[in-house]
Amino acid sequence: MKVLVVGGGGREHAICWKLAQSPKVTQLYCAPGNAGIAQVATCVEIKATDVEAMVAWAKDNAMDFVMVAPDDPLALGMVDALEKAGIPAFGPRANAAVIEASKAFSKELMKKYHIPTAKYETFTELPKALDYIRAQGAPIVVKADGLALGKGVVVAATVEEAEQAVREMMEDHKFGASGATVVIEECMVGPEVTVLAFCDGEHLVPMLSSQDHKRAYDGNKGPNTGGMGAFCPSPNYTPEIADRCMKEIFLPTVAAMKAEGRPFKGVLYFGLMLTQEGPKVVEYNARFGDPETQPILSMLDTDLMDIFQACVDGTLDQLDIRWKSGAACCIVLASGGYPLSYEKGLPISGIEEAAKSSTVFHAGTKLGENGQILTNSGRVLGVTALGETLPAAIDNAYAAARHITWKDMHFRTDIGKV
Ligand code: AMP
Ligand code: GLY
Repeated sequence: MKVLVVGGGGREHAICWKLAQSPKVTQLYCAPGNAGIAQVATCVEIKATDVEAMVAWAKDNAMDFVMVAPDDPLALGMVDALEKAGIPAFGPRANAAVIEASKAFSKELMKKYHIPTAKYETFTELPKALDYIRAQGAPIVVKADGLALGKGVVVAATVEEAEQAVREMMEDHKFGASGATVVIEECMVGPEVTVLAFCDGEHLVPMLSSQDHKRAYDGNKGPNTGGMGAFCPSPNYTPEIADRCMKEIFLPTVAAMKAEGRPFKGVLYFGLMLTQEGPKVVEYNARFGDPETQPILSMLDTDLMDIFQACVDGTLDQLDIRWKSGAACCIVLASGGYPLSYEKGLPISGIEEAAKSSTVFHAGTKLGENGQILTNSGRVLGVTALGETLPAAIDNAYAAARHITWKDMHFRTDIGKV
């Protein structure tokens, strides 16, 4: 099969790395890809959000299957467009990707189908939003409705902070149109766990549970990022909790999307909070998480191409999906200054040494002259290692990561420990 993966970060490197192991995949392409992905796939220079160019290229080059990984092209309807062109595609259609693209939609869905989540109200007018915040008091959570690169959420400790956040979204248009509607919700307390699940529109198979670390610095301090590291499985996610999540959250969500005429095919990402009253949904995403995908797919024993096909064909219930025992941990190596300003184009050393005892997924790299690998983004590499236990996986990942260096490189030293 000729297969195209859309995207170019660490998550897409992990997907390509796993697909390259499938005997069914004879030719693998990735658009736009990066320097690490180029080691397992042929990179094609098309922007992940360029739906028209992507579909035309897939058609012209006779792709048998396309996997769309990032949220933007999913929300833009890339899967719909590929299907229209007669190309089987993995990922939700635009009418199902809205579960991530609009928080107002997902909160309404949970309310209608009694899926546990934080209490909330939606606002399109600033004065009403401000009145509500003053009436509810703090702590309180303010969210931009649309996609905001994971940065449109403010957990406000005081009423003043919450007021400032809605003003920035609704008055200063900090997130553009994404902040025209805001969701204001109750602040939940408890450990956070992420569960990704394969879905075929009707059936759902959860992957191993995981946890990521969104803050830039040790001790969960500093600004929010796309994720500084992740591990799986999560020790907080006991079999009892898994059972409750399946019955109270996962299956009801898939059934709700089907009932709404928006069958969900692809990966559904459940951001969960394990509160005293039980597990509740913090957020849904319509895709694999980054960096959660790196440790999760490192633990997968089943052919990923078989799973993708079953999701598209609606036969997920007939597949036996197997995982390795033990644990996996991914340490993100970032550019100094990320997520604010940082330099790009810096030469990286030590990748080969690190790769002897880990898998080094590239998140943002490019090939320089002489074939040297250069930094090209905020998150640069995701060093991922396995272990018989979580502490062993963490130690192995750090031991490998410490071989790598470049000017101002930054990473957290407490992934998996806080
Ligand atoms: P989100 O982009 O919706 O995942 O939110 C980012 C982070 O904000 C989450 O991972 C949580 O840590 C936090 N958060 C979001 N909603 C709530 C809530 N209702 N209560 C407490 N924390 C929240
Ligand atoms: N790591 C969080 C996300 O992918 O949304």
